[in-house]
Amino acid sequence: MTTPSSSSSTLSPLRVAVTGGTSGLGLALVRALHARGAQVAFVARDARRVQRVADELPGTHGIVGDIADKLDTHRLALQINAALGGLDVLVNNAATNPYAGPLIDADVGRFDKTVQINLRAGLTFATAAALVWAAGRVFRVGLLMQGKTATFGQMVRWLSA
Ligand SMILES: NC(=O)c1ccc[n+]([C@@H]2O[C@H](COP(=O)([O-])OP(=O)(O)OC[C@H]3O[C@@H](n4cnc5c(N)ncnc54)[C@H](OP(=O)(O)O)[C@@H]3O)[C@@H](O)[C@H]2O)c1
Repeated sequence: MTTPSSSSSTLSPLRVAVTGGTSGLGLALVRALHARGAQVAFVARDARRVQRVADELPGTHGIVGDIADKLDTHRLALQINAALGGLDVLVNNAATNPYAGPLIDADVGRFDKTVQINLRAGLTFATAAALVWAAGRVFRVGLLMQGKTATFGQMVRWLSA
């Protein structure tokens, strides 16, 4: 995996929201988009980590929220809309992996949590976002990455294509 280069092409008109932007791939993507001049909002549950990332990347919009909370998704969509003045790209990145191993050994609680956050929450959030933004692109990081070796340069190019 490569790290972003600030000399790459600019994404300045692009407004992007990234769920789970405070850690791992989401944070790396937020940093890469910020370095290329995109307008970025990101969502995560831990308020202190959200603040830390927003402080590290001035101009980004950190929003505290739980995408798995069906009743809160519209508030999050509206807050992103207010922060960016619209949206071009939604990256459904936030996910959880409470269990790894044979499916037959997975307990129902962990299975339900995985489906709730990794599948249902992404769909609910995208639907809420679609009600606020008439058009846009939606990416799912887990699927985007599956079976591919993607550099951040490639991800950013896909986002801006
Ligand atoms: N890491 C890998 O090797 C790998 C491989 C293939 C695919 N992926 C996929 O890449 C994506 C990111 O994985 P990662 O390993 O980078 O994740 P990570 O480091 O565990 O980060 C997860 C991020 O999502 C946020 N988050 C989790 N649940 C949330 C919720 N309900 N609402 C809002 N935010 C939430 C977390 O912040 P809070 O906890 O503060 O909410 C954090 O910012 C996932 O979709 C994963 O399936 C990862």
